[in-house]
Amino acid sequence: MVSRTIPVDPFDLVIFGGTGDLARRKILPGLFRRFCAGQMPANARIIGAARSELDSDGYREMIREAIAEFGGAQAQDNPDLEPFLEQLEYVAIDAKGTGGWEELAKIMEGTDRIEAYYFSVGPSLFGDLAERLQKYGMADKRARIVVEKPFGRDLETARALNATLAEYFNEDQIYRIDHYLGKETVQNLMAVRFGNMLFEPLWNSQYVDHIQITVAETVGVGGRGEYYDKSGAMRDMVQNHLMQLLCLIAMEPPAQFAPDAVRDEKLKVIRALDPVPPHHVVRGQYEAEPGNEEENPSYRDAVNDPRSRTESFIALRAQVSNWRWAGTPFYLRTGKRMVARSSEITVVFKDTPHSIFGDEAGRHRNVLSIRLQPNEGITLGVTIKEPGPGGMRLIDVPLDMSFAEALNPDDIEHVDAYERLIMDVIRGNQTLFMRGDEVEAAWAWTDPIIEGWQSRNDVPKPYDHGSAGPTASAEMLRREGREWRHVTP
Ligand code: BG6
Repeated sequence: MVSRTIPVDPFDLVIFGGTGDLARRKILPGLFRRFCAGQMPANARIIGAARSELDSDGYREMIREAIAEFGGAQAQDNPDLEPFLEQLEYVAIDAKGTGGWEELAKIMEGTDRIEAYYFSVGPSLFGDLAERLQKYGMADKRARIVVEKPFGRDLETARALNATLAEYFNEDQIYRIDHYLGKETVQNLMAVRFGNMLFEPLWNSQYVDHIQITVAETVGVGGRGEYYDKSGAMRDMVQNHLMQLLCLIAMEPPAQFAPDAVRDEKLKVIRALDPVPPHHVVRGQYEAEPGNEEENPSYRDAVNDPRSRTESFIALRAQVSNWRWAGTPFYLRTGKRMVARSSEITVVFKDTPHSIFGDEAGRHRNVLSIRLQPNEGITLGVTIKEPGPGGMRLIDVPLDMSFAEALNPDDIEHVDAYERLIMDVIRGNQTLFMRGDEVEAAWAWTDPIIEGWQSRNDVPKPYDHGSAGPTASAEMLRREGREWRHVTP
């Protein structure tokens, strides 16, 4: 494979929460892959910072194990592992106190490299970390901070977080991660829309009947019950990941592929969203797998609350009220313990204005489907004549562009969302990160929906393990003469 990797400039990356789940599963294995690809310079430093009393050798051991477990095939017996681990250091730190901060400041002192601080911790610590970075002289103009979701749990808390961070950092120093924006096909969405003449003229309510965005997962809440039960699918997935997908599908062409140009257009979409009435939302909670209740318990058992009213599934109908999209609904759906892991965006075009083939030819519509995961690819359904004798019978066939088949697999360099985004932080490119006003606008749309459930004491509908969600979700589309795409792996 010819690598197109361009090494980034020397950097120091401090990971607060460096012993946590995200750091071990995603951040460090991702950095290791960038190291192997030659993108991470040999003098870059990664400094883990967390509460545990470890020394740098202990931390290296921990990360060695994490990379073996989560780093995939490439990580096994890889001669690059030792030199990579050499670039790791560790500082035991007290985020709310004074312990470890002077030591960290000393490590970071007197270099002129890029400095990035990854807040891989709960949002309740963001303010403490920012304040201490400033107090100990690390919050200068060179510093970049990376913050993880959840970015608040409503508009008020998101505003407060933005205000706290703004006390110490400028907006162009803050990188709010939504890892969906780092996914290959999500970026491809922009390439397809704005790199081709074919689609854009049809990309509006005159030609598009409706759009579906599905992010289906087979996993349950697992060990994250405590966090998840306070969030639910709306806060965990819709307010951020699905909202970002909707923005990229619905936005006007930005003048350039540049951070503020793209984010300005996304913001306009969020601000054009109508409030969602109760009959345009379906919430669900998964049931246990019959006969396997121990391993795959019901949502309520998984979170240890027999009366929990948190949704593990949500389907809703959103409406973007602007010239381009008035009258074209956007159906959003996401859930856990569904029938397959499948994320897909589907653009369903309108019927032809008149069928010259008569009623018996049936109804045929072009459908553009963009698969995010697994099996990334794009399929365009076109209507053709069924081959052979017997008159004019029409069938829909896919014009399929599976990336794995269309491109030589040996030529594709797979870059995980986190790897790409961290390298963007180092490069100083904010295009794929959420701006503060975007996050607030997304909460402003989400809050009234959640408040409505609370005031109505709304109870999510149960749905079967391994299904497509509650039947009411299919019913919501059926009422409008439409149907969801099948959730297939
Ligand atoms: C996270 C959510 O942001 O995204 C999880 O908190 C969810 O609940 C995950 O499982 C899905 O990400 P991916 O990349 O596996 O689709």
